[in-house]
Amino acid sequence: MKAWSDIGFEIEITGDLSPSLRLLASLDPSKDRGESMHHSGGACTETLLIYGEPIKEVLHNVEKPHFLIVGLGLGYIETVIAREALLQNKAPSDIGLITSYESVPELRKFFFKWLHDKNEVLHAEVTATYEQMLASVLKGTTLTPEAVKLFLRQHFAKEEDIFGSLSKEVRLVAKYHCILYDAFSSKTSPYLWEEGFLNAFLEQGAAKSCILSTYACKGALKRALKNQGFQVIVREGFQGKRNSTLGIKS
Ligand SMILES: C[S@@+](CC[C@H](N)C(=O)[O-])C[C@H]1O[C@@H](n2cnc3c(N)ncnc32)[C@H](O)[C@@H]1O
Repeated sequence: MKAWSDIGFEIEITGDLSPSLRLLASLDPSKDRGESMHHSGGACTETLLIYGEPIKEVLHNVEKPHFLIVGLGLGYIETVIAREALLQNKAPSDIGLITSYESVPELRKFFFKWLHDKNEVLHAEVTATYEQMLASVLKGTTLTPEAVKLFLRQHFAKEEDIFGSLSKEVRLVAKYHCILYDAFSSKTSPYLWEEGFLNAFLEQGAAKSCILSTYACKGALKRALKNQGFQVIVREGFQGKRNSTLGIKS
């Protein structure tokens, strides 16, 4: 059974007490630790702020919406989709599609096993991290962890339902109404932030009516969004982080 350190991560408890994962190895020689998946001020709070609002809006306005997540990580965004859908009294079948990409095979496997209550094959530390993640997402609601897991199981019924690396040559399986772009930064994942890649990705994956949200605010991203017919809204970043970006196309 692998612990987080066996797959190159360490747990970081963020400012709102929700867990994040940090890469043990840094690609930047000036830093001794690698990139964290979330803002140190609050993994859950940051996810709700950057991704929760667009998710809510799309669930409200689009019938059977398609969601695309780049970077499953610990699964905060997927969990927030289930939370918001349940809060709007929606069933799993009211969501057309949840497509998640994650390049680290163990992150796909661990999340899937945990979701399906196969905790006997997971390290206790790993299970505890997912439980903490889910508890933080459900804080302040009357939803139960079981309800959220049941909801997501319908969309991730098989391990292969979580896709691998989003590659340059990716062929997306659908058009999406809501794209939650939560890749690591361009230092860690350079091509995911290149204008040419983003243009091709949006051309392929954005439905006629589409919202893209991301914590980042990069020139290449904003140019690609505009080029693909999105209105670009620069939002305040989370707790002093650089601005984030919302792209809206209708
Ligand atoms: C910022 S973290 C995502 C955090 C996540 N959304 C969550 O809720 O915990 C970025 C994730 O993208 C993954 N990743 C990196 N390159 C990728 C690629 N080419 N395709 C898919 N996922 C990738 C990383 O392994 C990492 O889990």
